[in-house]
Amino acid sequence: MSRKMEKILVIGACGQIGTELIVALREKYGAANVIASDIRKSSDPNITDGAFEIIDITDKSRLEEVIRKYDIDTIYNMAAVLSAVGEKNPLVCWDVNMNGVLNVLHCAIDFNLARVIMPSSIAVFGPDSPRINTPNDTILRPTSMYGVTKVCGERLCDYYVERFGIDVRGLRYPGIISAETLPGGGTTDYAVEIFYKAIEERKYTCFLKEDTRLPMMYMPDCIRATIELAEAEFDSLKHHNDFNLAAFSITPGDIVSAIKKHFPDFTCDYKPDYRQQIAESWPESIDDGTARTEWGWNHEWDLDSMTGDMLAKLSKRYSEGKLYKK
Ligand code: SER
Repeated sequence: MSRKMEKILVIGACGQIGTELIVALREKYGAANVIASDIRKSSDPNITDGAFEIIDITDKSRLEEVIRKYDIDTIYNMAAVLSAVGEKNPLVCWDVNMNGVLNVLHCAIDFNLARVIMPSSIAVFGPDSPRINTPNDTILRPTSMYGVTKVCGERLCDYYVERFGIDVRGLRYPGIISAETLPGGGTTDYAVEIFYKAIEERKYTCFLKEDTRLPMMYMPDCIRATIELAEAEFDSLKHHNDFNLAAFSITPGDIVSAIKKHFPDFTCDYKPDYRQQIAESWPESIDDGTARTEWGWNHEWDLDSMTGDMLAKLSKRYSEGKLYKK
């Protein structure tokens, strides 16, 4: 725990959060000190502007090779198979979310890494957890494969902190809404897709019911939370890998109303699919007092400010003919 955070590796850098985390980290620590990696190549200039390596997190020797090559001391592991894809491919979900995490933890020991950031999710909760203002420390009996892997991951990381003295930190992301990169296979993806469809077609068919309330957060808050937790003093943390994190809690109907303030002709209909059941097993709202107390978390964006910013950014890209970046 004596090393400084100087050479950072982001695994899963081409995903929804990874692409924006890379930009923020390169700005903060210098492009030469932040290595992007993903299972496949990217043509996104934000990624290709600095060092990039192909890494499949389930391949430990490849991970070791890259750590050695750049003398990495800090890892942000953003690689994960999310809830909807996880239900379709439970074994792949287990492999990436568990064996991948184990590989990173063993690299942390073997290479004496300064720090590892290992995100978790609201998916750790299940139907037995309190659904409103879900406390940080409560019953964790998830019913999705994704949730099962995230609970095991949290426990595993905490065990490695205690047993091997490594510094691993993690936070439970709510649904993340972002304008840069589309999410990949989660239950909260509707909250991003709806903005693209509002711009393109002024209508959207939602795969969750109108009144399904879930905790959400805008990407700038998500990136700031991740880096703030990474930089918190180890001694001020009583928890390590299971911080609740919240900003606002909304339903699809709430987003529709917020969009209608900008586009009064926007309409939405509802055709719930298998993701409805996943959503109903998760909290409606989250108590993130522990994060606020232990490392000073405070959200900045709410539904209306986020909606205005999303629509402005996507409208601009649409008018330039590049709404979808890939
Ligand atoms: N956004 C994730 C999902 O829907 C939750 O962490 O799977």
